[in-house]
Amino acid sequence: MKIGVFDSGLGGLTAVRELIKIAPGVDIVYLGDTGRVPYGSKSRETVITYSEQAVKWLINRGVEAIIIACGTVSSVALERLESPVPMFGVVGATAYRAVECTNNGKIGVIATEATIRSKAYEREILRLNKDFEITSRSCPLFVPLVENGRISADDKIVESIIEDHLRDIKSAGVDTLLLGCTHYPLLSDAISRYMGRVTFIDAGREAARSCVKELGLNQSGDFGEFKCYVTDFVDDFQAQASVFIGDAIISSVEKIQL
Ligand code: DGL
Repeated sequence: MKIGVFDSGLGGLTAVRELIKIAPGVDIVYLGDTGRVPYGSKSRETVITYSEQAVKWLINRGVEAIIIACGTVSSVALERLESPVPMFGVVGATAYRAVECTNNGKIGVIATEATIRSKAYEREILRLNKDFEITSRSCPLFVPLVENGRISADDKIVESIIEDHLRDIKSAGVDTLLLGCTHYPLLSDAISRYMGRVTFIDAGREAARSCVKELGLNQSGDFGEFKCYVTDFVDDFQAQASVFIGDAIISSVEKIQL
């Protein structure tokens, strides 16, 4: 089975990491719109236009299902995207998991500005349990940190940005923190150092799990092909990608135009 995975940049590789782990036999076509990242600070109309181009491109590559491994696209554009193959966004599965995990009913939601503005996660969590208390916060500086490889918990800049962005979430006493942008799991160590004991819900991982479950994909087998396509430089892609996917073998990397 050939699965397309789409994100504005490299964050969607957090979904690939899980996909490779739980359904190693699938062929993966990864599309990162690195030339136009970030999407999170752009208007809804722009995000819809970019995503339509990406989905069309993936379908032309012959993918049989698509994981929209981007919180922003899943929140603001998914319902506007047309596809002849099944598409899996991150919002539903991630909200469901957060609701399952919380003990005190207090959930923090962090994501890009566009995602937080859309209230997509909040709506979904409250649909599942209207009594839960949700504290949401956009973290506009997290994606640039991750895309530039600044993820270490010992990095003073990372530390001060996290403190600035997560102060309200911490004082709200949440026991579960929904990482609603697929870039954010890379900052887990640093966030964890600041937040203390909270359960992280990883949007990319949950989307990959729901895709594998819904499609009944084979959970064993030899590794399939893993081809990457980006809309900007390919030179240091392998090195940047390894931060997300460790030593998983990328079959090829190519620059394309959407
Ligand atoms: N990974 C995207 C998301 O989940 C990244 C954000 C962006 O492009 O701003 O929202």
